[in-house]
Amino acid sequence: MLDRIEKLRADILEESGNIKSTDLLEQFRIKFLSRKGLLNDLFEEFKTIDKTEKAKVGKSLNDLKNFAQNIFDEKKIQLTKSKEEKKSVTDYTLPGRTYNIGTKHLITQALEEITSIFERIGFKVYDGFEIEDEYHNFDALNTPDYHPSRDMQDTFYLESKGKDKRYLLRTHTSPGQIRVMEQQQPPVRVIVPGKCYRNEAISSRSLAVFHQVEALYVDTNVTFRELKGTLDYFAKEFFGKDLKTRMRPDYFPFTEPSAEVDVECYLCKGKGCRICKYSGWLEILGCGMVDPNVFDIVGYDSEKYTGYAFGMGIERTLMIKHGIPDIRMFYENDIRFLKQFK
Ligand code: DAH
Repeated sequence: MLDRIEKLRADILEESGNIKSTDLLEQFRIKFLSRKGLLNDLFEEFKTIDKTEKAKVGKSLNDLKNFAQNIFDEKKIQLTKSKEEKKSVTDYTLPGRTYNIGTKHLITQALEEITSIFERIGFKVYDGFEIEDEYHNFDALNTPDYHPSRDMQDTFYLESKGKDKRYLLRTHTSPGQIRVMEQQQPPVRVIVPGKCYRNEAISSRSLAVFHQVEALYVDTNVTFRELKGTLDYFAKEFFGKDLKTRMRPDYFPFTEPSAEVDVECYLCKGKGCRICKYSGWLEILGCGMVDPNVFDIVGYDSEKYTGYAFGMGIERTLMIKHGIPDIRMFYENDIRFLKQFK
C-alpha cells in the first residue's frame, strides 16, 4: 500500500503543475480530494489492512492528504490574486470620463446679458421687492383702484390682516421705479430686473411666474426720441441686426404717451403665422414717457423733469431670440433643452 501512496503523490505533484484556471483547480479537487476521489479510496482501503501496518501507513496517508490539500489551498489563493490583478489593470486607451458641469439657467444668462447691455450706456441696477404693497405696485403708478389690472384674478394678494397695508406679489417690475424715485433725486438711470407674479391660466404663452426688466431714465429734457434710440440700441445688441422693430401707440396708466414695441416674428419673418397670430409681429415690451402724475406722487418737479420708462418680458424676449415655441419649456428643466444654452 505504501507504494500506491507514493505513486499517488507523484500523480498529485504532476497534475498540480497543470492547474492554470479555477476550472482545472476544481477538477483537481474532485479527482483527489473529494469524497469520491482517489485519496478517499485509499482511506477506505486503509480500514482493511493489517493492524501492524496501520501506524506507518496511516501516517503517510495523512501526509499525502495534507500535501494535496496544501497544493489546492495555495493554487486557489494564486488564482484569485491573479484574477484581481487582471481586473485592476489600467486601460489607457479608454476614453476619458466627462463630468457634467452645471451652467447658469437660460433666464439668468439673459438677465445678465440684458443688464450688461444697459450698464454699457450708464444704467445702474436696482433690486426691487417681490413682495410689494398695493401702493407701490398700483397707486403710485397712477393705477386707480377701478383699473382692471387690480382685479383679484390677476393679482396674488397676501394675507394682510392686522397689517397697515395690503401686500401682494408684484405683478410687474414697475414698482421698482417708484422705490428708486422715493430714494433719490434726478438724474436717475436704472434698470430693475426680477420675477413677477400673475394669477394667469398657464399656457404656451403665459405663466404665473415670469421675469421682467424695467428701465427708468429721468432728467431734464429726456425725450421720446431718446427712448426710441435706446430701444433700437437694445434690439440690435440683443437680437442681432436682422430683426426689425416697430412701435405702436398703447395705454399704460403710468406713462403718457405710451407705446408697445414689437419685434418681427422669428418664425415667419413678418409674413404672419400661428406664433404671431398672423400679424407678423411679436410684442416684447411696454414703454412711454413717465406720466407727470407719477412725478407728483414721488415728489419730483414735473415741470422741470421728464423721463422715459419701459418694462420688458424676459421669457417672451427669449422665445423670440431663440425660436422657443412654448414658454413652459423654460421651467421643465429638460436637460436636452437647457444644454443648448450653455
Ligand atoms: N408694467 C407693464 C406691464 O407689466 C409694462 C410697462 C409698460 C412698463 C410701460 C413700463 C412702461 O415701464 O413705461 O405690462
